[in-house]
This record gives sequence, C-alpha cells and structure tokens, in this order.
Amino acid sequence: MASARAQQIAAHLNCPKGMLHGQVAIITGSGQGIGAETARLFANEGAKVVVSDIDGAKASQVAEEIKKNGGSAIAIPGDMLDDNYINELVKKSADFGSGKIHIIVNNAGYTWDGVIHKTTDKQWDTILALHNTQPFKLVRAAAPYFRVKDGEPRSIVNVSSTSGLHGNAGQANYALAKAGVVGLTKTIAKEWGPAFGVRANTVAFGHIATRLTAAKEEGAFVTTPDGQKVALGIPQAQKAGREAGKDAFKDIPLGRPGTATEAAGAVLALASPLMSSYITGQTLSVTGGRNM
Ligand SMILES: NC(=O)c1ccc[n+]([C@@H]2O[C@H](COP(=O)([O-])OP(=O)(O)OC[C@H]3O[C@@H](n4cnc5c(N)ncnc54)[C@H](O)[C@@H]3O)[C@@H](O)[C@H]2O)c1
Repeated sequence: MASARAQQIAAHLNCPKGMLHGQVAIITGSGQGIGAETARLFANEGAKVVVSDIDGAKASQVAEEIKKNGGSAIAIPGDMLDDNYINELVKKSADFGSGKIHIIVNNAGYTWDGVIHKTTDKQWDTILALHNTQPFKLVRAAAPYFRVKDGEPRSIVNVSSTSGLHGNAGQANYALAKAGVVGLTKTIAKEWGPAFGVRANTVAFGHIATRLTAAKEEGAFVTTPDGQKVALGIPQAQKAGREAGKDAFKDIPLGRPGTATEAAGAVLALASPLMSSYITGQTLSVTGGRNM
C-alpha cells in the first residue's frame, strides 16, 4: 500500500497539462543562455516562470516571449549580489505564485578567471558570493515556501560545473565555488527531504555554447556591484587552439559542445516529478560524456 506522500506524488506524475503544470519556478540568470532556455522549457511544461536576471531588458524579453507563446511568466530583474534583491525576489515571486513557490534554479553566474598567484581577493570573493553565498541566501529566504506540507512537489536545482568536480587551471575561485554547490545541494536534500519531501539536485555542465564559452574578443562583459567590467569568454587563441582540426572536442564522446537547450533539458528533467520524483542529492554531469 503506497504511503500518502507517494499517492500525492503519483497525482503529479499524471501530467497532461505539462510536467510542471501550475508550479511556480524562480530561475536566476534567465535573461539569456542556459537560464533563458530553462525558462522557456519550464513554461512549455506549464510552469509559472519567474525570470530573474541582472539584465532587466533581457529578462523582460524572455518573459514577454513566453507570454506571447501562451505561457505564464514575470520578469523580476535585479542583482543576485544584492541581499535586498534576494528578499524582493522571494516576495514578488510568492505574490506572482499566489503564495507558493515550488522550484528554484540557482543558475545565475559568470567566471572571473585567473591563475592562483594572480587572483585578487575581489575576484575570489565575488565568485564565491555569486555561486555560493547568494544562492544559499535565496534558498534560506525561500524556506517558508519549501518547508510546507501541502502535498505539492518542491525542488531545487543548483548549477555547477565540471570545474567544480574536477578542477580547472585558471579557475581556483570558480572551481571552489562550483564544488561548494554540490555540498549545499546535498545538505538541502538531507534537511528538507524527510519532513517536507523537498528534492535538491545539482547539474554540472561541461562545455555548453553560450557567451561564457564564446570568444572573449566578442566583447561580452558583466559589471560588478562597484562598477568594474569583467570580460566574459575564452581568449580566441586558446579557443582556436583547442578547437582546431580533426582533434576538436576529442575528449568529448559526443564530439561537440552542448547547446543551451540541451543543458536546460537536464535541469527540466531534475525539476520534474515525472522524471525525477525519487532522485535527490545527486549531481548530474551534462558534458556529452566528457570526464565519465
Ligand atoms: N556555458 C558553460 O559552458 C557552462 C559550464 C558550466 C557551468 N555553467 C554555469 O551555468 C550557469 C549559466 O551560464 P550560461 O553559460 O548560461 O551564461 P550566460 O552568461 O549566457 O547567462 C548567465 C546569466 O546570468 C546573469 N547574471 C550574471 N550575474 C548575475 C547577477 N549578479 N545577478 C543576476 N543575474 C546575473 C547574466 O546576466 C546572464 O543573463 C552559470 O552558473 C555558469 O557558471 C556554464
């Protein structure tokens, strides 16, 4: 005989209106790249999507597109490095969701690379804050909406990287932060799983084609809270060297980078009760097979 909890979950597995029908999902960094694709896929599966990004124009564009296609979305722009924004994000998301939040995808982030002996305190502190401290604060602020017993699914997906699982030269700050994501995720799973049924999982991406992995010379940048511009991407010479000739991507069994949509598909799979209702505390490598 199935437990009451298992019966409630079973009700959510029958999903003719979409795998995330009626679930309110905050996706940080969803103005572009993997986050934007996650927002679109979630909306296609019936979620009410909160598009959170420091870039207000891009966040609005993603939310408008979703609505034009018949989905439900709201843009709540702001900087994840700002504690006030995190509280505002939770409050406005709960208002949008008629008092409920079901899913958080901690995806916002960027790299600010440097070899160990040249990495500044600011580089170090910013990357740890962005990938660890602030996602923790978001989860903590949203606790009242996750520590509930209303029979509805709750899930957190935190975005990590192969740099966090295996290390990467030039990324001590990012590797530490993305390793930290794994521990945070497992702790949420252990604290909020038993009584509330909250699931928490990590996706660790390999090489996904976004502006983070494009040529640095394309000129994409982010601005830190005190106004410093951080260039994004991989230097063209390094990228060309890596990708030249028949050996391009030879360490990736699928032989190519992933798309943002493919990356988002993995986030959807972990967030969805249909795919993953008995999966928690896990790290899914989405790498085309690299580092298996
Ligand atoms: N692209 C890859 O190969 C790859 C690999 C491993 C992990 N990741 C991780 O995936 C996540 C998404 O990266 P992406 O490749 O889609 O990058 P992206 O630059 O295309 O998108 C990231 C989004 O986050 C937003 N953002 C950055 N800082 C923010 C802040 N302080 N507050 C609010 N929003 C902020 C940006 O404005 C941007 O819209 C990141 O956590 C990244 O570290 C990416």
